[in-house]
Amino acid sequence: MQAVMLVGGFGTRLRPLTYRLPKPLVPVMGKPLMMHVIDALPPEVDNLIIPVNYKRDMMEEFIAQRDLSVNIEIMDEPEALGTAGAVKNVEAEIDRGETFLVLNGDIVASVDLSEFVAFHKSKGGVASITFWEVEDPTPYGVAQLDDNNRIIRFQEKPKREEAFSRLINAGAYALEPEVLDEIGPGFISMEREIFPKLISKGMYGFTFEGCWADCGTPEGLIEAHLALMKQSDWYVAESAYTYNSNLIRPFCIEPECRIVNARIGPGAYVGSGSVILDESEIINSVLLRGSRIGRYCRLENCIVDENYQIPNGTQIKDMVFAQLPESED
Ligand code: GDD
Ligand code: MG
Repeated sequence: MQAVMLVGGFGTRLRPLTYRLPKPLVPVMGKPLMMHVIDALPPEVDNLIIPVNYKRDMMEEFIAQRDLSVNIEIMDEPEALGTAGAVKNVEAEIDRGETFLVLNGDIVASVDLSEFVAFHKSKGGVASITFWEVEDPTPYGVAQLDDNNRIIRFQEKPKREEAFSRLINAGAYALEPEVLDEIGPGFISMEREIFPKLISKGMYGFTFEGCWADCGTPEGLIEAHLALMKQSDWYVAESAYTYNSNLIRPFCIEPECRIVNARIGPGAYVGSGSVILDESEIINSVLLRGSRIGRYCRLENCIVDENYQIPNGTQIKDMVFAQLPESED
C-alpha cells in the first residue's frame, strides 16, 4: 500500500524555528516530527511518497542517514500546489489498483491507521477521514457525520458561532484512486475544493481516542509534548543533574541536563544537554537540546531552539526563541 505525506509549505507559523529547519524535521520529544508520522504508518504501507518544496536537501540528507522500514520517494513540488494539488502532482507514482493514504505530516496522533484502512474498506466509500474531538474547532476542518459515520457536510476553519460540530479533520485520509480524477491542475485544496465534491460519492469519518496534536503552530507543538509527556507522567534521565529543584508533573528531563534551584513544570520538556540556572521557572514549554536558560527567568508557553541562550531575568509568555536568519545585506 502507498501513502503520500504532506509536508509542504514554509512552516510560517513556527517561525523563527523553521528558518533553520523544515517543519517535518522539528523535534517532538527529541524525535523529528516526520518520524512520528512514519512510525505510525500501518505495516501494510511499503512506499511513502513525500512531495517537497522547502529545504529539500535537508530532507533528503535526513532520510539518507536513516535505515527505514518503508521505501521513501522524495518528489519535487516546484511550487506549493495545495494539499490536493500536491497529491495530483505525484499521480504517476500512485498505483491505480489500490486504496492509498494521504497524511498531514505535522500530526502526532494515537490513531491506529490499520484499523482506519479496514474501516474505509468496510464502508466502501471513495474516501474516509480520521476525526478527533476538540473544544475549539475554529483552526481546523469540521464535519458532521450521520449515524452510519457517513459525512454529510464540511466546513473548513469555521467561525466559532458557525461551527456545526466539534469533530475535526485529524489529517489522515484513505482514498480510492478515482479521487485523483477529481483534482484539476494547479493549486488546489483537498479540504476546500475536493472533499465537498466527494460527499455525494460516499465519504466516511473514523473517530478515535487517545491523543492528537497538530504541531504546525507553537501551541500545537507544545500540546504534542504535553500529550506525550502525560503518557509517562515524568522522566528524568540518569545522566541529568538536578539540584534543589521543584519538578512538577508532567515533565521530561533528557540526558546530560543541569538544573539548579529551578522550578520545572508542569508541562516542561527539557532537551538533552540543556542548562537551567537559579530561580528560573519553565512552565508548559519546550526547550530543544542544548538550551541555556539564565537566572531569574520565567518562560511560559515558550519554545527555545537548540543551543539558544536565554539571558538572565527573561520573563515571557507565548514566544518562540530561535536565531533569525542572517540578513542578505
Ligand atoms: N506538499 C504540500 N504542498 N503540502 C502542503 C501544502 C502544499 O502546498 N500546503 C500544506 N501542506 C501540508 C502541510 O505541511 C501540512 O502537513 C498539511 O499539508 C496540512 O496543511 P496545514 O497548513 O498544516 O493545514 P492546517 O493545519 O491549517 O489544516 C489542515 O489540517 C488540520 C488538522 O491538523 C486541514 O486539513 C484541516 O482540515 C485539519 O483539521
Ligand atoms: Mg497543520
